[in-house]
Amino acid sequence: KKRAERFGNAGAGSVTQQERAQLLGQKGITIWLTGLSASGKSTIACALEQHLLHQKRFVYRLDGDNIRFGLNKDLGFSEKDRAENIRRIGEVSKLFADASAITITAFISPYRADRDLVRGLNGKDNIPFIEVFIDVPLSVAEERDPKGLYKKARAGEIKDFTGISAPYEEPENPEIHIRTDQTDVAQSVEIIAKYLSDKGYI
Ligand code: PPS
Repeated sequence: KKRAERFGNAGAGSVTQQERAQLLGQKGITIWLTGLSASGKSTIACALEQHLLHQKRFVYRLDGDNIRFGLNKDLGFSEKDRAENIRRIGEVSKLFADASAITITAFISPYRADRDLVRGLNGKDNIPFIEVFIDVPLSVAEERDPKGLYKKARAGEIKDFTGISAPYEEPENPEIHIRTDQTDVAQSVEIIAKYLSDKGYI
């Protein structure tokens, strides 16, 4: 009844989240990666997606390429725009997870309040939210600098750059914490997959 109140009555034949999960044999969850630029979020998200796809699971990854160039192309990197970026991604992750997908997001999401908001959005709809802190010392991220962005940020050519001229608020109680200067990609995937299986999500 509550659901009908919130989403409107879709009428006879509408399927609940639980029925969908049962019929498809998979429950949707949101796996939320957060960390500095060049921390390894996208690499781990891609590898995890492939790992789960090879097990024939319904999995989908949201990242800068399919979100910041599409749905969120009107947004920049001010605190306000990042909040809106993360809020919309949280809403989209919730929809995918409601459709039973294992949804993996890979965004810096530097503000604790924004991450708490999306955790709440998912939680309100009974979607497990797994925050994964992709942790790397700033000095290592800066050394990696695959796109030369840290160098530009240091030179003042990019403003509000996370870690240099804009904050990154570390997660306080993430479900999973991975140090990517001490853990390789395969190990990172294993850590997350083990967590999912221990919790009975896969
Ligand atoms: S956020 O903070 O979650 O809204 O950021 P996100 O959507 O993940 O986008 C981060 C990528 O955008 C590029 N970029 C910047 N990052 C941080 N700060 C500033 N000012 C900035 N400008 C552009 C950068 O390539 C990030 O990519 P990743 O993949 O994280 O390295």
